[in-house]
Amino acid sequence: MAHLVAAFGTSHSPALNSPAEDFPLHAERDAAYPNHLDLSGNPTTFEELVASANPAIAAEITPDRIAARVAATTAVDGKYARIPKQGELQLDPKAAYVHLTSNNTIFGTQWFDFPDAGSVPLVADMSSDFLWRPFDVRRFGLVYAGAQKNIGPSGVVAVLVRKDLVEKGRTDIPKIFRYSTHAKENSLYNTPPTFSIYLIRNVLQLVEEQGGLSAMEQRNRDKGALLYGCIDRLSSFYRCPVEAGSRSLMNVVFRLPTEELEAKFISEASKAGMVGLKGHRSVGGIRASTYNAVDLTGVRTLVSFMEEFAKKNG
Ligand SMILES: Cc1ncc(COP(=O)(O)O)c(C=O)c1O
Repeated sequence: MAHLVAAFGTSHSPALNSPAEDFPLHAERDAAYPNHLDLSGNPTTFEELVASANPAIAAEITPDRIAARVAATTAVDGKYARIPKQGELQLDPKAAYVHLTSNNTIFGTQWFDFPDAGSVPLVADMSSDFLWRPFDVRRFGLVYAGAQKNIGPSGVVAVLVRKDLVEKGRTDIPKIFRYSTHAKENSLYNTPPTFSIYLIRNVLQLVEEQGGLSAMEQRNRDKGALLYGCIDRLSSFYRCPVEAGSRSLMNVVFRLPTEELEAKFISEASKAGMVGLKGHRSVGGIRASTYNAVDLTGVRTLVSFMEEFAKKNG
């Protein structure tokens, strides 16, 4: 039986489909088209590009039309150590929408209860905590999530959007950016990454076989209890900068007494087969990402390593 070893998706499949003997023709045509390829190596500014474009396209490239944004909340004392409380949010009842990112992969904070935005549609970037548990989608006007954390490979974004918002969507933006375009075309306006979607189908089947989202939630809560439990138990060595109640169950961040020990921790963990534990470059420290794919056994292995490391280096 044939074995699939690789699959490629490209938005330029017509070019890839053309026979190899035609490639020099493409190159010649591209080289002759100055807006496409400037062989003199001169940089072209965005304004120059827009000026040289077909006027119909140029009219669609309108970054100035993207409306003003207002922060409803900000870091407390310069730190993102907790999720803001409802009373701390400055929500404008006339806003077009209120946006939040339900899990912060860098600082390791997560919204467990979503804010009340009144009649203003709530919009969430759930990229890093989509489908870790059941959630009430009726609370939201729009949810979007890159697949790459909990549900499959990168290249796919899941979007759940209320029908009335699709209908009310702006039409003064490029057609490809309008949800109505994708809704009308049944998500086939552009070429879908079929291989990634196929893998997502398999992941969703696996989630169902393992007991569905309620089982996923229990498993994620158990993992979090184990890992945060270890950090708090060994608090003279490990420290989680995030307040209890806001601690992410997807990205567990913590610090060690010194940066040198953190480097040693990462290096020894790697030798023990645990990779990807380095915190985001903007904050440093350690970050254990415990997405759905990480099981309880994996977290137990990390906890044993942490106990051992603290004993030897504390
Ligand atoms: C919450 C959140 N939003 C957005 C992104 C970035 O996604 P992309 O690289 O697909 O734009 C990430 C990280 O992958 C994320 O965690």
